Amino acid sequence: MARQYTSKTAKSMALYERAKKVLPLGVSYGIRYFEPYPFYTARARGSKLYDVDGNEYVDFWLGHTALILGHSPQEVMKAVSKQLRNGTMYGTSHELEIALAEQVAKMVPTAEMTRFTNSGTEANMYATRLARAYTGKNKIAKFEGGWHGGYDALHVGVKPSFDVPESAGLTTGAVQDTIVLPFNDLDGVKKKLRNEQVASIVIEPVLGAGGGIPADEEFLRGLREFCSENKILLIFDEVITGFRLAPGGAQQYYGVKPDITVFGKILGGGFPVGAFSAGKEVMERLDSHIYERPRYSFHGGTFTANPITMTAGMATLKILEDGQLIDRLNRLGQKIRDRLGRIFEASGIAVQVTGAGSLFNVHFTKGQVKDAVTAFKAGRNRLLDYHLNLIANGIFILPTHNAALSTAHSEQDIEKLFSETEEYAKQSKSTHRK
Ligand SMILES: Cc1ncc(COP(=O)(O)O)c(C=O)c1O
Repeated sequence: MARQYTSKTAKSMALYERAKKVLPLGVSYGIRYFEPYPFYTARARGSKLYDVDGNEYVDFWLGHTALILGHSPQEVMKAVSKQLRNGTMYGTSHELEIALAEQVAKMVPTAEMTRFTNSGTEANMYATRLARAYTGKNKIAKFEGGWHGGYDALHVGVKPSFDVPESAGLTTGAVQDTIVLPFNDLDGVKKKLRNEQVASIVIEPVLGAGGGIPADEEFLRGLREFCSENKILLIFDEVITGFRLAPGGAQQYYGVKPDITVFGKILGGGFPVGAFSAGKEVMERLDSHIYERPRYSFHGGTFTANPITMTAGMATLKILEDGQLIDRLNRLGQKIRDRLGRIFEASGIAVQVTGAGSLFNVHFTKGQVKDAVTAFKAGRNRLLDYHLNLIANGIFILPTHNAALSTAHSEQDIEKLFSETEEYAKQSKSTHRK
């Protein structure tokens, strides 16, 4: 496989050598690196990425799952081109930010008020601060395998072993107030929090980086009840699930309401974004006319509510709002999960295909995958091998990460995923036998 890849990617190899000198690991985000070196993208359109060597990839990574309409969708590009002529950055208030906040509230009823940020990380950081400000409690809780970005207090318990710090440079002070909870295990949550006072519990309704694992509906309902009973704010991190699982995100899909919602990815319509939203009473903590220091919760930033992002986000949400495209993608997602499972099964390879809606992930294991612990126990190298094989054959899923669907994917794109997976399953079955 490596030989097949390197023979097709000479220019990427040269760029990687150049990149290594100025970008640590040759990339701008560690997860974008894979062996032997990543390809470097020259352009993208619809469901395809094209690298500097002219190779075409059907893209199921979709810009970290952000691009639900595919790359550069026409309607969004048209709106953005128009906005470009009116200014790229105001640094003042403008109508587009109001319109997008209204649109979010229309699609996600718990998101009565919103503040925008430039990334999901920032949005989670400010949401956590808001929860602390609102409840007057310091400690917070998150789940094993939950990824909420690189904010110190949430950069805890992401990968097993969960007790090993995720990064150097996290001070004890920053992480000691974060309690890490077992996913899909309500009794475990209650036990861990028995003698604790926490401001918030943040959860990805479908674990993303933790393996594409949906929360059980009963678990989410129980968690909601537990939070209400204990005056804990329930935060749904819908950076991946927002506007993807349903027009109203995972909370609509599951019928469970959080107190605060964190958004990102799809909301930006292909441009950098994050946002956090809640009901008026909670969000008013951000209003310095109502709450003075030290009771007021700060949020801000130079590029917040950038007019290009607001425009692209609005154009995207308008396309998604009636739910028809999302329903179609969700049905397709189910078909993909079923078919991938059957393909591996036919070759006698034990896999668990996880995901929900238009998200899917494969785990090479016989055992049930219900949380990040079981997901990380599955054959990681096998998954890496499968994904690298797909890349060498023109399908891009970022190795070991979730895959997602966009409205730009064609039937042929999906068929290619199936046929390359079949080829891989047959090959690895025979390699296995030797
Ligand atoms: C669920 C979730 N929350 C938060 C983040 C962080 O968002 P960003 O990378 O925009 O900072 C991510 C990013 O992948 C995510 O998947």
